Amino acid sequence: MSKSSDFTILPSHVGVIMDGNGRWAKLRNLPRTAGHKEGAETFRKIANYACDLGIPVITFYAFSTENWSRPELEVNAIMDLFRDYLDEAKERQAENEERGMRVRFIGDLTGLDADIFEMAMGLTDLSSDKTRITVNVAVNYGGRQEILKSVKEIASRIQGGEIVPDDIDINMISDGLYTANLPDPDLIIRPSGEYRLSNFLTWQSAYSEFWFSDILWPDFTEEDFDEALRAFEKRNRRFGGI
Ligand code: FPP
Repeated sequence: MSKSSDFTILPSHVGVIMDGNGRWAKLRNLPRTAGHKEGAETFRKIANYACDLGIPVITFYAFSTENWSRPELEVNAIMDLFRDYLDEAKERQAENEERGMRVRFIGDLTGLDADIFEMAMGLTDLSSDKTRITVNVAVNYGGRQEILKSVKEIASRIQGGEIVPDDIDINMISDGLYTANLPDPDLIIRPSGEYRLSNFLTWQSAYSEFWFSDILWPDFTEEDFDEALRAFEKRNRRFGGI
């Protein structure tokens, strides 16, 4: 485990695709839900570690708009993990306060059960003044759907006569995303041996660096996070320049 001074540069925003829970469970002859439970523990561990390191923003992909097509039992189990986390956050409010962790849920939250929606809003409100780290949990999230949301809002403003099509610029689209006012992800981490973005931060990842690994998410450690940060440190980012 490292400390922030061990790095010459840290990303301003890290995106994490929490993948491989099902395979982790299968390897142990356990139900897939056991993999998600362990994955939720890894989420807590890495969120706390990123906070300790002083990474300003981290976004975890927890449930995509496409994940509803999984068996009901699995979807319910993941929803219960969100409930557990939200309950626990209420109980451990003092600890979170001390950490300085702001937690937000991004995605179409209206698609969630009312109790989860309310608890998520409660935690967002409660932690809104914390400044050490912003932890985004992407739930019922899809990158294309998010762009669509922003474009529809712009279309409404045009319809209302507030702006004309020529006023649309990149910032206006960014401002309509769930990540408005946050930096784009500098680094996106995807474990479990898959090499794709899967509708995660589609717009925001235009210039992201990627770090892939075969580790399954429940096995992911602080040392693996360090390795991704070390790889990022060495990348030569040109943003289209030379
Ligand atoms: C992808 O692995 C993982 C998910 C669809 C669910 C991730 C959710 C959690 C880790 C729980 C999060 C909890 C909180 C509190 C944020 P997979 O099931 O697709 O794995 P596989 O590719 O090996 O089958």
